[in-house]
Amino acid sequence: MKSCYNKTTPELIKKLASIVSTENIITPEGDIEPYSHDETEDLQFQPEVVVKPTSTGQVSEIMKLCFENNIPVTPRGGGTGLSGGALPIYGGLVLSLEKMNKILEIDTANLMAVVQPGVITQVFQEEVEKIGLFYPPDPASKGSCLLGGNVAECAGGPRALKYGVTKDYIYGLEVVLANGEIINTGGKLLKNVSGYNLTQILIGSEGTLGVVTKIIIKLIPLPLFRKTLLVPFDDLQKGAYALTQIFFNRIIPCAAEFIDKKAVKALERKQRKTFPYSDSEALLLLQVDGNDENLMEKEIEKIGEVCLNCGALDVFVADNKEKQEELWKMRRGISEAVKSISIYREEDTVVPRAKLPELMMMLKEIEKKYDINIICYGHAGDGNIHANVIKENMPDEKWNKVLPEVVREIFEEVVKLGGSISGEHGIGYVQKEYMPIALSEIELKLMREIKKVFDPKNILNPGKMFPQRLAHG
Ligand code: LAC
Ligand code: ZN
Repeated sequence: MKSCYNKTTPELIKKLASIVSTENIITPEGDIEPYSHDETEDLQFQPEVVVKPTSTGQVSEIMKLCFENNIPVTPRGGGTGLSGGALPIYGGLVLSLEKMNKILEIDTANLMAVVQPGVITQVFQEEVEKIGLFYPPDPASKGSCLLGGNVAECAGGPRALKYGVTKDYIYGLEVVLANGEIINTGGKLLKNVSGYNLTQILIGSEGTLGVVTKIIIKLIPLPLFRKTLLVPFDDLQKGAYALTQIFFNRIIPCAAEFIDKKAVKALERKQRKTFPYSDSEALLLLQVDGNDENLMEKEIEKIGEVCLNCGALDVFVADNKEKQEELWKMRRGISEAVKSISIYREEDTVVPRAKLPELMMMLKEIEKKYDINIICYGHAGDGNIHANVIKENMPDEKWNKVLPEVVREIFEEVVKLGGSISGEHGIGYVQKEYMPIALSEIELKLMREIKKVFDPKNILNPGKMFPQRLAHG
């Protein structure tokens, strides 16, 4: 790949070692392979060096050095991303935040926590739940993704339906800029209109604007009761329609996931386990929670009634914790199972949730039109469906020709439905050329200008988010 950057030299590596010490540096002679990919397809780009700072001061010094020497820097969390955000496509330096993994404070008076970016999401959730608090965002990779990565990508997950996504819980950030300067945005403030909201510009900026070194997170009380429902349908459309009827009845489940039969079958094959109702065409996996058990039971009854009226084959309620956790654990395994079938492309479609039946119909039509396999599952309740285009035995020539057409058509149709090209996985490396489908030239120009202000030398995660043909990035 054409590069306008300098290569790291032995001298620069020595300087890095004097900042973080040699045990926190990996060079190509060491075990650098894990840092050359994330979870995006089978893409691999080897960094020239991996550096693992342990403090904000070290991150700042590293950035200063890279800024002066024009070295590209790819910040990295848990490496679980699905749009190639952590791929060092120009080589250079991978800045892994994994060692900055402390929960610095759980402030029970303000219901805020302060953490370093390297804390594993699930570890944080379990810690706050011990004292009756709740951090809802729950990406499928929560057992290995890092909060810093969640901030960079604005991660979502099933519970976004009722509780929102990462950006709805982040109130302040400490960030190291491209030139090494350190800023603090926001704070433990529920209200704050002092100037532009830099916190929210940085959330979801995919490591292109700064390196997050501290995060202030809002917490809420942990709901006392929780139940999971599994509802099979013999028709995709009926399942999608049932969901819209649940909302018409003024019920917002905590999560409402949709899984098509092909995804369930892939899961069963991969995990060598059987999933309940796996022969039905579509499954809805719902979670309901609350503090009033009677009210929650009434909601569950209503959901069951609505689903049966819409043609559900059954309504299974998992009320014990083990059964619920088993179902959700399997749900979290779907992505890996679907990917293991063959070469694939995952599209993170999102539409206003009432358009879900149309989105499902559109995907079926494209599947037929191009005679290609599309496996769907995802967060139907919030309109975010992962559509996986699977290659299987399709000859390479046909795949290479048809895939870009399929992806383009999916995105164009999604935008016509009032949706966008990524709900929670980000644009990163794999979706950047499609940005003009979702954003106007003026909007893209504004974003490029913002990028230039934060990162005038374009050293922070270059080659991401912006269409390459057109400009900066
Ligand atoms: C999921 C990931 C792929 O929903 O976002 O499983
Ligand atoms: Zn998802």
